[in-house]
Amino acid sequence: MKLLQQLAGNRPLWPAIKANAYGHGAEVIGSHLISLGYKTLCVAHSFEAAELADAGLKATFIVLSAMLPEHSECIAEYGFEPAVCTVEMIESLSRAASKFRKQIAVHLKVDTGMGRVGIRPDEVTEFLRRCRDLPGIFVKGIMSHFPRADEADKSFSLRQIEIFRQIRKISQGYGISIYHLANSAGIFDLPDAAFDAARPGISIYGLKPSLSMQNPLVNELKPVLTWKTRITFLKEVPAGTGLSYGHTFHTDKPSLIASIPLGYGDGISRLLSGKMEVLIHGLRCPQVGRICMDQSLIDVTALRGNVGLGDEAVIIGRQGDEEITADEIAEKIGTINYEIVTGISRRIPRIATGFP
Ligand SMILES: Cc1ncc(COP(=O)(O)O)c(C=O)c1O
Repeated sequence: MKLLQQLAGNRPLWPAIKANAYGHGAEVIGSHLISLGYKTLCVAHSFEAAELADAGLKATFIVLSAMLPEHSECIAEYGFEPAVCTVEMIESLSRAASKFRKQIAVHLKVDTGMGRVGIRPDEVTEFLRRCRDLPGIFVKGIMSHFPRADEADKSFSLRQIEIFRQIRKISQGYGISIYHLANSAGIFDLPDAAFDAARPGISIYGLKPSLSMQNPLVNELKPVLTWKTRITFLKEVPAGTGLSYGHTFHTDKPSLIASIPLGYGDGISRLLSGKMEVLIHGLRCPQVGRICMDQSLIDVTALRGNVGLGDEAVIIGRQGDEEITADEIAEKIGTINYEIVTGISRRIPRIATGFP
């Protein structure tokens, strides 16, 4: 966070802890951020914010995703700040505000090029007028999002910044106090995207938005997550033994095979079968055969005589001089580090260590 805050200067950072804090554990991460003084946190859905508020996290929650009117009462009751981009939503928020006798702060989402949700830039003033006419809601912020800020070529993002500047100009006089655009990639590579606040996600977990980032400071990010387990079973098998479902793998020599209690039910993609490694006693050991729902097999023949039940196996993280990163795993199956960490399932306990 220090590095990000250094880049953002005195502008507030509103960390994104949606999707269980990108798989890291939203309660653990959210509480830590609050203890560091971050008072505004972004989630995707109102139920994510409600879960965290119910768990005792005291923060302002911005709800980023487009939602349906049926969520308005939850927003009003808890006092969340939703991103809005439909008339149906602002009208139902206004009704919920009057029911709960509250004022609801909203953030108008404008699509400056993401092509996902948001009103068009030319609809901004008309939408703001409608909001002004509705009791119980006020537009606190205007926001947009980058689809390509993590690419080497920044021309599209620079055009978006220009559009966002125009939006700021035409929306003067509506009492909007905060314009926010930057995600992690914007914070690192697009100083002009700073505006009044930023919403970093992936970088707060020490992960790079992409491998095409330009700012060398991105190399100072250090992953905060280690994913580890322990060996639950060991067996010697002769050469030619078929292992796991479908026998897609046969040993080519007498082998020592370990089982670990993690599989695709825990977020280790089955597509990684036969492609990934885990660290045991500081050594990269190949995973063999198909990854099952709850268990996977590791060839630990190289550690024969030196490995036992209960020994630690690292899926993501460091052990000895070796490190396996979410980026490395992502590359093996053609995806991004975001998906690897976000995919770690709920049944994996998240343990906070190393926080001051
Ligand atoms: C609207 C919005 N803002 C901010 C972020 C954070 O982006 P990043 O994780 O790339 O920093 C996201 C993530 O998807 C988002 O959807």
